[in-house]
Amino acid sequence: MSKAVVLFASPHKDGHTAKLLDSFMNHFSLEYEYINLYDCTIRPCIDCKACARMTCPYNSDDMGIIIKKIESAEIIICATPIYFNHVPSPFKAMMDRCQQFYLRKATAGISHFEHERIGILLTTAGSDDSKVTDAVTDVFQMFFHCFETKFIEHIAKTNTDYMTDYNISQIQFDKIKKYLVKTGEY
Ligand SMILES: Cc1cc2nc3c(=O)[nH]c(=O)nc-3n(C[C@H](O)[C@H](O)[C@H](O)COP(=O)(O)O)c2cc1C
Repeated sequence: MSKAVVLFASPHKDGHTAKLLDSFMNHFSLEYEYINLYDCTIRPCIDCKACARMTCPYNSDDMGIIIKKIESAEIIICATPIYFNHVPSPFKAMMDRCQQFYLRKATAGISHFEHERIGILLTTAGSDDSKVTDAVTDVFQMFFHCFETKFIEHIAKTNTDYMTDYNISQIQFDKIKKYLVKTGEY
């Protein structure tokens, strides 16, 4: 069993994104911690730059708990609907607070995360626009990178306004499983 943390960012606990996450979890038996970012209190980053010298002074909000859960995980699974080609605001607030890892590394050369993790992104979007997830693909490259995490797969379900297909393709299943086996815990 691999230890995973799920960062979930839909306001609907039984919506398209939740159903896609369920489908994913039914394919892979992972021990995981679940964080619903809509239930978290995460202050917006105010670019005070304190994190260049010390731990972010605002980590006493739920960001501190999220960081601890990520530290103890091997796999980071992000599940989010697409809002304006990006992520909903609770997820964006959390992402901006990850600036603390970039800044500390850039100024003091200190890396917060000791070992490499793997990252998987699950998205749902209402439209069938072929470009609807282009922006988040780039965003999550950067996001996962700040946790020393290798972004291995993006499972994107589009057209949820009209279709409800939450299946994971065999190709994606095989690819993810290969990485999970590599972690040595699957
Ligand atoms: C504020 C808002 C913005 C949205 N922006 C987009 C968008 O840019 N592109 C798109 O295809 N769907 C967009 N949608 C639709 C959602 O991505 C889609 O309905 C999604 O599957 C909802 O997932 P959920 O059931 O987990 O909430 C938006 C929905 C909302 C509420």
